[in-house]
Amino acid sequence: MKLSFDEGDIRTQLGFSYRQEKGKISLVVKENTPYYRRHASRLIEDEVILDLENAKRKVKELGDCVVYSVYNLWKSVDFFKELYVKTGLVGDLTLLNHGFFSTQNEGELFCTYGHAHEKFFGELYIVLKNKCFLVLSDRSTFQSFVVWLNEGDSFFIHPRFMHRMTVHRKDCLFLTLAPEKAGHDYLCVKGRGFPVSLFYNAEKKRVEIKRNPKFDASYKAVKKVKEIDAFKLIERDPEKLKDVLEDPEKNAKFYFNG
Ligand SMILES: [Fe+2]
Repeated sequence: MKLSFDEGDIRTQLGFSYRQEKGKISLVVKENTPYYRRHASRLIEDEVILDLENAKRKVKELGDCVVYSVYNLWKSVDFFKELYVKTGLVGDLTLLNHGFFSTQNEGELFCTYGHAHEKFFGELYIVLKNKCFLVLSDRSTFQSFVVWLNEGDSFFIHPRFMHRMTVHRKDCLFLTLAPEKAGHDYLCVKGRGFPVSLFYNAEKKRVEIKRNPKFDASYKAVKKVKEIDAFKLIERDPEKLKDVLEDPEKNAKFYFNG
């Protein structure tokens, strides 16, 4: 099957389609696809974002809101079901809404909860629509990287990193593939968040990286990533993809490693 994600094209084979208007993505996913929604209140309750004060004020004054939704395509769409049976890889689709954890048009940018993997397996992220920032933090040194990702980019996340996605200006749609047995460790994020968070400064009209005082770690911005033809790999050699994700040491050349 030829994989294509052009906007407006109905990707029935892949189980979803979308439209974008003024930076807002409307997503239609195959009926009966299991999904969950993550609200701002949960990120506040678990203290995984940095500016809790403004975030709490937002929820109090404007009500709770969905920050992102995750759809388990591997449980409902034939293409991903077959990939799962063949390789044990789970394919999920995430729609991350753009917004601020603040009542103003500035402040901490919407992001996912973030996690690390329980087992030493990697993950493939594919950005389907719009730009985003991937925050990576080494699990033992907390050295962090803020990776600028563009639409169409693919990125292999090494298991030594906790990871979280952040957006600005427009909603972001991305696909993730990881071995089911990789597991999710959310506890490493709970109660403290990430060593760095992204904020929009309206006066200076720019995105800024802020340090979290709960950590003592350096960070770097990464604006260029390896070119990876992830679709070709999924389409033509899913066994190789499985091997890359299950054996990051042997396949180090595929991964960003700081
Ligand atoms: Fe992950």
